[in-house]
Amino acid sequence: MDIRNKTIVVTGATGGIGRAVARELSDEGATLILVARNAQRLSGLVNELGGDRHVAVSADISDDAGRRDIVKACRSTGSDGISLIINAAGTNSFGWFEKQSADAVRDLLDVNLLSPILLTLDLLPLLQQQKSSRIINIGSTFGSIGYPGFSAYCASKFGLRGFTEALRRELADTGTRVSYIAPRATRTDLNSDTVIAMNDELGTAMDDPALVAEEVMRVIRGPANSDKYIGWPEKLFVRVNALFPGIVDNSLRKQLPTIRRFARSKT
Ligand SMILES: NC(=O)c1ccc[n+]([C@@H]2O[C@H](COP(=O)([O-])OP(=O)(O)OC[C@H]3O[C@@H](n4cnc5c(N)ncnc54)[C@H](OP(=O)(O)O)[C@@H]3O)[C@@H](O)[C@H]2O)c1
Repeated sequence: MDIRNKTIVVTGATGGIGRAVARELSDEGATLILVARNAQRLSGLVNELGGDRHVAVSADISDDAGRRDIVKACRSTGSDGISLIINAAGTNSFGWFEKQSADAVRDLLDVNLLSPILLTLDLLPLLQQQKSSRIINIGSTFGSIGYPGFSAYCASKFGLRGFTEALRRELADTGTRVSYIAPRATRTDLNSDTVIAMNDELGTAMDDPALVAEEVMRVIRGPANSDKYIGWPEKLFVRVNALFPGIVDNSLRKQLPTIRRFARSKT
């Protein structure tokens, strides 16, 4: 997809990954509708991108009124529709499942799963005003591999992957293409100091958000409908887990004492 002069929505735009993606898209001449809750960080981002053409929408995607504000901004900015939505807003909560509160689980599933689905539902008519358009959902390696300490997060990303696959197939004979991009651990504020320390001890690689943004751009420029799993050996583990989950069960069991120790120590 040639993104010059196209109107593109990025949720989670002020986050580590969203910001890096927004910078790439802005440099290539897109008009961006940048979504996050914190208005100050959003206006800082708009200044940093230096484009008067970009629009900041301070909205909570898990709130009906917030999603209405996003649709309103899209209608007034992209008079002939929008070309791409990148669902990157997300949250995480590392900890032993039995210690999670019902509210925390509900909130996580709402922001990571229900809200991108509902926002996509709201924006689909605007995407379909364009002859060709794209939906890109930012998932995770944990959307294919269940990992101890991240049960609700994994559930949300498994769900997002299923939604992406079904919608892609449903829209196969339309001009709208749907992709899923699964980063592995990435150095952003999503990961607490505890998670970073655990990843260091377990030897889990963490990518720079700029690398994830490059991969997102590759998907946008590449053949429609493609999914992308970032990082080696994570993309191999995704396949092994699908075919032989017992191998991954055994390997994660060895990591369990370390993961449990960090989960208990978390602040
Ligand atoms: N970092 C990783 O290790 C990693 C790995 C794999 C996948 N991912 C996925 O990549 C995506 C981006 O993550 P990130 O690492 O860039 O996270 P991040 O740095 O923590 O940024 C999260 C972004 O989402 C926004 N956000 C959170 N809740 C929101 C809500 N209710 N409504 C609107 N905006 C909301 C935040 O802004 P406000 O707080 O101002 O709303 C922020 O812009 C997420 O979907 C994440 O699951 C991340």
